[in-house]
Amino acid sequence: TKEYEYLIVSKPVKGVGLITLNRPKALNALSSPLFIELNQAAAELDADHDVGALVLTGGERAFAAGADIKEMKDKTFAEVYQTRFLENWGHLAKLRKPIIAAVSGYALGGGCELALMCDIILASPTAIFGQPEINLGVIPGGGGTQRLIRAIGKSRTMELVLTGRNFSAAEAETWGLVSCVVGEGEGEVVKEAVKMASRIASKGRLAVQAGKEAVNAAYELTLTEGLGFERQLFHGLFATKDQKEGMSAFAEKRKPTWTHS
Ligand code: CAA
Repeated sequence: TKEYEYLIVSKPVKGVGLITLNRPKALNALSSPLFIELNQAAAELDADHDVGALVLTGGERAFAAGADIKEMKDKTFAEVYQTRFLENWGHLAKLRKPIIAAVSGYALGGGCELALMCDIILASPTAIFGQPEINLGVIPGGGGTQRLIRAIGKSRTMELVLTGRNFSAAEAETWGLVSCVVGEGEGEVVKEAVKMASRIASKGRLAVQAGKEAVNAAYELTLTEGLGFERQLFHGLFATKDQKEGMSAFAEKRKPTWTHS
């Protein structure tokens, strides 16, 4: 894998691509150069035939403390509007393969939004989430207002966005924002995320891709449309060898061998 200035990319176990944000001096503040690298690394792993699922993590102290405030502070409206500032953040939400956020420490502002762009969030008990942009005279600009409301509802989202207060891993778990808070210990959240990613990577890729697409469609479609979309994908999978293999293996009481075809 390539060398990056602000990331470490590795394949810790078979089938899993791990991206570690590595700008510790700035608590992984998401500068433009960092995000360009992140999009590139994610796109490469998304296209990598050896990879079935991705994990995105930061450091123990910070997953990411937000967009880079020092980089942003002197920008003008004309500049941010004309360059479509932060629009490229959206690429991460368009990956075909599942991506799990493993969050330790601060996930604030853009850091919280980055976790929200992932498909699953696992949190360390030390994780601290928040959308503090209101304290800087702005609002979330990386999807916070839109994705948070879909994850935890209107009243809580309004409270968090308008007060800018932080919230804990325990709160995030109660609200369903994170799928689980892992045990204590350094590196535990990454270990669990890699384990989960490895489990996903051991499935048939076409079904995994379809599953992600179908769940994500629920954010965009009415129930009738969503059910129709799901059924089409379900029907479509009957054209795959993996469906024949998966169902034959069940009937023959053996383990399936996926060919991702
Ligand atoms: N941008 C740029 N630099 C940042 C940063 C950020 N978002 N967050 C932290 N840093 C830098 C600090 O400036 C500091 O650098 P120096 O050593 O050069 O001074 C270094 O990281 C360490 O940070 P602190 O000394 O502040 O560490 P702390 O432990 O005292 O506090 C913190 C930690 C509470 C996370 C605090 O750093 C903080 O409040 N950070 C900003 C959080 C924030 O407001 N995030 C939202 C950004 S706006 C945004 O994200 C917009 C959007 O929606 C896309």
